[in-house]
Amino acid sequence: MNQTPIGTDWRQAATLLREGEVVAIPTETVYGLAGNALNDRAVAAIFSIKNRPSFDPLIIHTSDFTRVVNWVEEIPEAAWMLARAFMPGPLTLLLPRRPIVPDLVTAGLQRVAVRIPNHPLTQQLLQALDFPVAAPSANPFGYISPTTAEHVAQQLNGKIPYILDGGPCSVGIESTIVGFEDGQTIIYRKGGLTIEAIEAVAGKVQIRPHSSSNPAAPGMLKSHYAPAAPLQLGVLEELMPQHAGKKIGIISFRRAYREVPPERLVILSPDGNLQEAARQLFAGMRRLDALNLDIILAELVPEEGLGRAINDRLRRAATR
Ligand code: TXA
Ligand code: MG
Repeated sequence: MNQTPIGTDWRQAATLLREGEVVAIPTETVYGLAGNALNDRAVAAIFSIKNRPSFDPLIIHTSDFTRVVNWVEEIPEAAWMLARAFMPGPLTLLLPRRPIVPDLVTAGLQRVAVRIPNHPLTQQLLQALDFPVAAPSANPFGYISPTTAEHVAQQLNGKIPYILDGGPCSVGIESTIVGFEDGQTIIYRKGGLTIEAIEAVAGKVQIRPHSSSNPAAPGMLKSHYAPAAPLQLGVLEELMPQHAGKKIGIISFRRAYREVPPERLVILSPDGNLQEAARQLFAGMRRLDALNLDIILAELVPEEGLGRAINDRLRRAATR
């Protein structure tokens, strides 16, 4: 394939998806690599383009939660409450799947992940389709998720026939993944919908600790979202002298550091706004990673609201 065209023509994206092709689509969280979720060939192509292991299941996306009854067996009351409050939005629900959902999508698991993205262009696209689209983040497996069409092109240029450009993602961090076990609401992945917001609607939740090698819970691979340069977390003032003489980059929450040239400094939010920090995080990691640094030094943000998901991504980026 030659250069991948980038454009805003959702009808073109719809035509390609109907033909079984895989295209990149914008969402409010991150860009997705979409294919017809009910078409085995399209789903297999997603795995191969992403270089993703087949044991890691995919989220299916549609325009409206009422359509989800076509692909899942039963919807608990807590799921309806969360859907009414937060869909469309940065929330993914794990629900018992119907047999029509291919094994390839769920990696053979009994539940399927469903999400209603809140992005105007992708809403139009999904409304026009009579099937859901499976869409992982549009990055090679293990690398940083894309939050602009250009990020997608940096790695998938020539590998897919179209990138639907919806501008920079407004949330910037993946959806929060929620499921239900024995009447209990469980958070499997921290994300763009805060735990505080979920608890206000569904009551107390349980957060599943992440593990690196549990095939029954593949959403929890630990080393992920990782730049090519090693990333170390800590107190920046203490880390910098330890790496004197190296080519270092810095990810700071609010403060500027004159110790490094400005192009090697990412300030997530000078005002200390966690929404802004979430929007900047992945783009900032990518900007630093393009500089061939010896090491990236980063600090955690406050462990509240979106800060919990930001810190989760920083910790995974630091794991190798
Ligand atoms: O915000 C998002 O969720 C983005 C946009 C494109 O929608 N998608 C996304 O997909 O982040 P992906 O594939 O990069 O991450 C989805 C995670 C994976 O870690 C996967 O293991 C987990 O969801 N997952 C999917 N289906 C699952 C299932 N049936 N049971 C457990 N985990 C599941
Ligand atoms: Mg991903």
